[in-house]
Amino acid sequence: MKCIRVCQNRTCRKQGAAKVLAAFEVISVPDVTIIGSGCLGQCGNGPMVLVVPDMVWYSGVHPSEVSLIIEQHLLGNQIVTKMLYHRFHPQRQKQ
Ligand code: FES
Repeated sequence: MKCIRVCQNRTCRKQGAAKVLAAFEVISVPDVTIIGSGCLGQCGNGPMVLVVPDMVWYSGVHPSEVSLIIEQHLLGNQIVTKMLYHRFHPQRQKQ
């Protein structure tokens, strides 16, 4: 069971987080819940998306990229490396 938290607080909302949440909500994935969350503490890098319990952070997520997270990460169990949040996933720099 995974949970996708899509920050809906002020800064992420300004960056388009409501559309990102909506994009997740139109596609239902078995054993995955989607929630709009409060501030994830990473304002300015949004829209922020956190996958738990994996603790994988995606930053600057565009609504058009949601299907990639769903197909590759949620269904395929492979992290979308190019979308990782650099602060918590420094390995992105090496890609
Ligand atoms: S408003 Fe989204 S991380 Fe703070």
